[in-house]
Amino acid sequence: MSPPHTAMSLDPRLNPALFWSMAYKLSDAVTLLLEGQALARLAESPASAATLAEALGWQTDPLTRLLDLLTSAGVLLRQGDRYAVPPATAAVLPVMAMEAQVRRWHAANGSLRRMVETGQGADPLGRIEEPAFHSGYQQAMAASTRALALHLFRHAGLTDGMRVLDLGGADGALAEQLARLMPNARFCVVDRPPVEPHFMARMAARAESLGPAEAARCRFVAEDVTRADRLLTEAAESQAVILSNLLHMIPQPAAQGLLAALHQVLPPGARLIVYDQFVLPDHLDVAGLMTVDWVNLGTLFDGSDAALSAHLIHTGWHEVSARRFPLLPGALVCAATPNAS
Ligand SMILES: C[S@@+](CC[C@H](N)C(=O)[O-])C[C@H]1O[C@@H](n2cnc3c(N)ncnc32)[C@H](O)[C@@H]1O
Repeated sequence: MSPPHTAMSLDPRLNPALFWSMAYKLSDAVTLLLEGQALARLAESPASAATLAEALGWQTDPLTRLLDLLTSAGVLLRQGDRYAVPPATAAVLPVMAMEAQVRRWHAANGSLRRMVETGQGADPLGRIEEPAFHSGYQQAMAASTRALALHLFRHAGLTDGMRVLDLGGADGALAEQLARLMPNARFCVVDRPPVEPHFMARMAARAESLGPAEAARCRFVAEDVTRADRLLTEAAESQAVILSNLLHMIPQPAAQGLLAALHQVLPPGARLIVYDQFVLPDHLDVAGLMTVDWVNLGTLFDGSDAALSAHLIHTGWHEVSARRFPLLPGALVCAATPNAS
């Protein structure tokens, strides 16, 4: 005999429509606890619901329900009557904060509807003026650069002493991590003009702790990468160029123009290193969810790593390879300009 009430498993495949139309409830709970500083406090030290509620001036009962919900979803851990933030959650707190802000902005801006009705995308990076959003965005980007730098260093053909061009390199967090692994390399980070003060702040801190010569290994060029002609001199002097999480932010014709220009001006044997949230056809992962971002932005990025690899081979790049890593979302696609004959 079956029990009178059977728990419905939280498996999206059982009823995808029901699951995905209700998943926002968990996102709402996560965002509240994040923005109300509950997650930051638990990350500092595990606490019971009553202790946390008192510290925040919140009601214990509703807070307990939300903490239990997040625990059953794996966002939090429970140790006796105390709740804790596991390392996987702690690592992405800045990304969660950025996601919450971007989501709110797109909702208020009506971005999705506008895009499907008019084809006009909207980029919050160019439109949100609050400094707190921009520093939060930089923090979110910097959160994964340590792991990313290690993977690029090990698997992308980077060698110490190279001159590396990091396009869309944000505040230099990735270049800084790579600089630790490549003590004789030099880095030129290219990003939009509003990002420059964030780069300067990071390098000032670097100069403070490691000395000015060390900080001088990384410099910034404020430029729009879609105006590829402006980057030609930098590219001509680089042995490696990195496009990490950049291609999804630029429309496809501009992306192809940029790759073609790089192919033309990079020196023989130079490395092209593309890391991005490439989609896996017929598979829903974080990159798949980000399709909504690409629609919002209007870039309609729909690249797979296989498609980019085929494009690179077709356009004359050598040593084209693509790979994924168990602990890193997205994929790495590498290539090289032909060696001088
Ligand atoms: C998603 S972030 C990636 C940051 C960093 N490369 C990483 O992987 O952590 C994309 C960066 O590209 C920059 N970007 C986007 N479009 C750009 C453009 N047309 N010209 C220059 N930078 C651009 C953004 O300002 C942002 O800093």
